[in-house]
Amino acid sequence: MGTSFWRRTPIDPPADGFPEGEHVDLVVVGAGFTGLITALMAAARGSSVVVLEAHTVGAGASGATTAKVSVLQGTRLSTIRSAHGLDTARAYAEANQHGLDWWADFCQVHGVDSQRRRAVTFAKGRRGISTLREEMTTLVDLGLPARWHDSLDVPFPARAAVELPDQFQLDPVEALAALALAAAGLGVRIVEHSRVTGLKARGQGEDAHVEVRSDGGTCTARNAVLATASPALDRGPTVASMEAERSYLCAFEYPGGLPSGMYGSVESPVRSLRTVPTPGGEVLFVGGNGHRTGTARGTASRIDSLREYAEKYFPGAEFTHGWSAQDFHPVTLLPRSGPMPWGRGRVHFAGGYSKWGLTGAPAAAGIMVDRLEGRQPRVSFGKPTLTGVLRTSVSLYADLPAQLAATAAQAAVRKPRPTLRPIGEATGDDGETCRVGLLCPHMGAALAWNEAERSWDCPWHGSRFSACGELLEGPATGDLTRHDEA
Ligand SMILES: Cc1cc2nc3c(=O)[nH]c(=O)nc-3n(C[C@H](O)[C@H](O)[C@H](O)COP(=O)(O)OP(=O)(O)OC[C@H]3O[C@@H](n4cnc5c(N)ncnc54)[C@H](O)[C@@H]3O)c2cc1C
Ligand code: FES
Repeated sequence: MGTSFWRRTPIDPPADGFPEGEHVDLVVVGAGFTGLITALMAAARGSSVVVLEAHTVGAGASGATTAKVSVLQGTRLSTIRSAHGLDTARAYAEANQHGLDWWADFCQVHGVDSQRRRAVTFAKGRRGISTLREEMTTLVDLGLPARWHDSLDVPFPARAAVELPDQFQLDPVEALAALALAAAGLGVRIVEHSRVTGLKARGQGEDAHVEVRSDGGTCTARNAVLATASPALDRGPTVASMEAERSYLCAFEYPGGLPSGMYGSVESPVRSLRTVPTPGGEVLFVGGNGHRTGTARGTASRIDSLREYAEKYFPGAEFTHGWSAQDFHPVTLLPRSGPMPWGRGRVHFAGGYSKWGLTGAPAAAGIMVDRLEGRQPRVSFGKPTLTGVLRTSVSLYADLPAQLAATAAQAAVRKPRPTLRPIGEATGDDGETCRVGLLCPHMGAALAWNEAERSWDCPWHGSRFSACGELLEGPATGDLTRHDEA
């Protein structure tokens, strides 16, 4: 699978070394939108901040996103309302409006390429239209200036649509570069290629601090923030209450022009569309085909089907990039931004954005920074209800028995000797063939081969490993065991 379209421009944050043995106010783990905005906000309030990133700035979903910034998010507002009530949907909408306003301001101040666009959710069939009506009702009940369309002037199938005007889109890599620069300007040190492998809250009262262990060294901090998309290092209820979804995006050169807007379908497979103005003309994005990480077969065909869609409805569209990335769906349906149960109030986590974390990150970061300073957060994503959570849990955990059975079956495989653990053999991009243990080092689930990415993917919490076992993304913090000699 290729690299994200956005990666055509490099991000070169000022190079900083690991703060070996130092004590700082805040260690932020992860340099995506959540981590960098948190670092920026904390530094602006006078904190000394270090960001530790396992790979490079924007290596996670942030450098691979569609980059729509919108309060209309498919049919999420009516879904949240139906699970948790209108007040929670209102809080969620307000937190996302806060994100949109924050980004509009940031992009203007820092010259990040961005545009105002209408957001449109569309439906093709009768059931989709009825779901769409529920979204429209919720938007109206929330007092948002939504418009209903009985038809839509677009080249792809759409029988009805809801529109929310004056939403936003941006270039995420320009935004990441600007965030890194702005943070560095306030004294934030960003250390790339430094994976955090342990966080321990220690001491009491005035002495309370977090010990941070990474593969680059150790340091201590008054507080730590996990901005790691899923809660790295966690093996408890927080990580267990999220599902990783991998989805696919393609970019096309398309001089034909798309009616201005950012589009998303109600029906599955989801189709998400936007354009990117470039000096060489319009680029069209078509995304979708998401699935739970580590569960889909034929992943390579997911890009093919997006290409076919674009070639059918946008004749002349020329494929340039195809890539995939993942984000996490929490059982509450609401992003999480708060303390980890094991962190004695000093380790916070923000994530679980259900693929809307560019829009949600400013609110999530603001909530954490307020809490770490002992202030009442100014925004909130709303409160989940128990009945709503129970209802979502049924679908999140529906395939758990099958997953457990698959893991037990793999663990029981006794070949090849001398190990009792299952072993997989695969060839990486560089042609090297490797044999690796196939039980996830995070919590022991059986890994599945992802042919599109040539990676071993975990169906439980979304950790991913290269063909030769190198950890690509967490919550795991270590590589797979190599068995080349066996
Ligand atoms: C295909 C796709 C399309 C999307 N489209 C949109 C959209 O249009 N609009 C929108 O609002 N949102 C969208 N999203 C969601 C959005 O991109 C994400 O929610 C957001 O980027 C998450 O940012 P983050 O900083 O929390 O996580 P990430 O960007 O994933 O960053 C986490 C970082 O933590 C690092 N890390 C992990 N573990 C460790 C460790 N142990 N030590 C050190 N570093 C570590 C990772 O390397 C990574 O760089 C989309 C997501 C996907 C997958
Ligand atoms: S990511 Fe948790 S078991 Fe694999």
